Formats: sequence, structure tokens, C-alpha cells
Amino acid sequence: MNVINPTPAQDEVLARIGSRRFIVVAGKGGVGKSTVSAALALRLARSGKRVLIVELAAQPRVARLLGYQGDPATYDIVTIEPRVQVINVTPGPALHEYGLMKLKFERLYRLVFENPVMKSLTRMIPGMNELVLIGKAWHLEQERLPDGQPRWDSLIIDSPATGHGVSLLALPHVITETVKSGPMADEVGQIKEMLIDPARSCMNIVTLAEEMPVRESMELEARMHDTLRVAPGALFINGLFPPLPSAAVERELEQVGMKSEAGSAALAAARFLIDRRRSQDAHLAWLASRSALPRIELPYLFVPDFDRSSVDHLVRAMDTVATPTPRTTP
Ligand SMILES: Nc1ncnc2c1ncn2[C@@H]1O[C@H](COP(=O)(O)OP(=O)(O)O)[C@@H](O)[C@H]1O
Ligand SMILES: [Mg+2]
Repeated sequence: MNVINPTPAQDEVLARIGSRRFIVVAGKGGVGKSTVSAALALRLARSGKRVLIVELAAQPRVARLLGYQGDPATYDIVTIEPRVQVINVTPGPALHEYGLMKLKFERLYRLVFENPVMKSLTRMIPGMNELVLIGKAWHLEQERLPDGQPRWDSLIIDSPATGHGVSLLALPHVITETVKSGPMADEVGQIKEMLIDPARSCMNIVTLAEEMPVRESMELEARMHDTLRVAPGALFINGLFPPLPSAAVERELEQVGMKSEAGSAALAAARFLIDRRRSQDAHLAWLASRSALPRIELPYLFVPDFDRSSVDHLVRAMDTVATPTPRTTP
């Protein structure tokens, strides 16, 4: 048996992710991108970093998830705790802000951008919405305090689901290839430089150990290398069921199951979990043979309401070394 892709210690992987300022979190819809972004932010804040989570083109969710009680208005920077902040960025306000920055006066902005012809034009320009989103994220990365220090040590970019996320991150490449000079080319060029600089940016992929998410995450990993050219971070495998019991424990469970009605119900529940984990292990093995990313495994949490304490639980799970899974080839 041949052990491939040995996983470096998780804290080493997390430290490497945290050494970047622009940390992208990507993946299929519903796999836990926002959850992982929140957990990663808490983990980095604990190591002393000032972190901003940037939710792109999504319903505001992360502030609530982190226990924020107020109404998390779109486009306000919400402070969760001294070193953790969240902003939800959507195209409308981002375009407004960008327009104002260029035109300086609200009245002029209204004249130009809210003119019906211009409005339909900006809707027609492909990628305009995406461009202002990634542009805003880049602007946030550029923010400095009066003493010249960056306002945030790390920005975690909770990006839209796979296809939309890829087109968003690919946009600076597309534009720099078509627009060669002028202020737009300069700005977009700087965004691209940031994204492809392995010292400043990295991309993390979140997946579940299920067929479709695993396939999509492999696609995404390929695009990360050949199209986006962002340095790899880690593959977060979310929602893992408890590790398989030993054969002895499984035999004991069988016996408990024969003793009483309650025992039989417990056995049925245990069998369900064991089956699910077996299936997840098969997907983990498949991933291990194809993905070159270091893996960070996160447990499925059986909770009625996934809240701040659940996120804290996942942060603790990031500290524990992953249970060995079949990372071998036959
Ligand atoms: N480890 C986990 N255990 C249990 N439920 C989870 C876990 N991670 C995420 N969830 C739940 O799955 C759903 C999708 O998570 P979310 O982070 O919003 O995904 P995404 O941002 O990728 O769309 C949410 O309802 C969340 O509470
Ligand atoms: Mg989300």
C-alpha cells in the first residue's frame, strides 16, 4: 500500500492560510462556505489577526451565524468582536459607491448612473456586477489605518457558489486580456496581481463527502490552477459523520440491538450512521487520490439550530488532528 498526499499538520496548514491577506473560500452551494468562513475568521482572530469576512453577492448570513443580534444591514461593516468584522457586499450598493468615487458628487452620480439609458447599459455590460464586487473586496484589502498599517490582517472572501464564483475570480484575467490601457486596465491589473500573488492570496475549497460536491470541488481545483492561478489553500471537508467504530464495538452494538426494543432502535440509528460514514469514506478516498490540496476535516454537528456555539465547535475541531481516513491506494 502506498500512502499518497500525507496531510501536513492542520495547524501548519491553517497558519499558512492565515499568512495571506486575501483568503478566498469557494465551493458548491450549501456545502458550508459561509460556515467555514466564519470558523476560519474566529480561528485567525484567536491567533491575533484582525479579520474581515466579505460576503459576496449573498443574503447576509455570516453576522447572524456569528451571534450578531442586530439587523445586519447590507454594506455596513458589522463588528462581531474586537478582531472580527463582517461586510455583506451586493452589486447595487457597490456600483453606487464606485460611481460616487469616480464622479465625486451624488448629483452627478444620479445624473450619470441613474439615467435610464446608463442604467440599462450597466446591466448590459457583461461582468459589470461581478467587477464591482471583486473591486470592492480589493478596495477593502487596500484600506489603511492612519498609521499606515492595513486595517485588516486578513480578509476572508465568502464567494458565490462554484460557477458564479469562478467567473467572478476569472474576470480580472478576462479584462486585462481585452483592455490593455487606461485607468480601468490599471485597477483591474492590480486586482489580478493581488489574486495571483501566492504571498497575498490563496483559495480554499469547501466540500461535503458526497458525489456531486466532490466532483464539483475537483472541477474547481482544476480551474484554480489553470484559469484563476490563485495559490492553493486547503480543502475543507465538511459534515463528516462520526468515524467508524471498531469491529469489536460493532459486534457489541449488534448484541445490544438484540436485547430490547430500545436497543434495537439504537442499533438501527447506529447502522444508519455507520452506512453514511462508509459512503463518506469512499468519497474521501476518491478525493485523496485526486486532490493535491491539504485536507481539513470538519464533523457534522447534530444540532437543531446551527448557531454561534456550533461555529465555535468547528473552530475547536480545526485544532484536533483529523482522524486517519483511507488515504491509500490499493
Ligand atoms: N458541520 C456542519 N454540521 C451541520 N450542519 C452544517 C455544518 N456546516 C454547515 N451546516 C449547515 O448547512 C447549511 C449550509 O451551510 P452554509 O455555510 O450556509 O453553506 P454555503 O455558504 O456553502 O451555502 C446551513 O444550514 C448550515 O447551518
Ligand atoms: Mg453562503
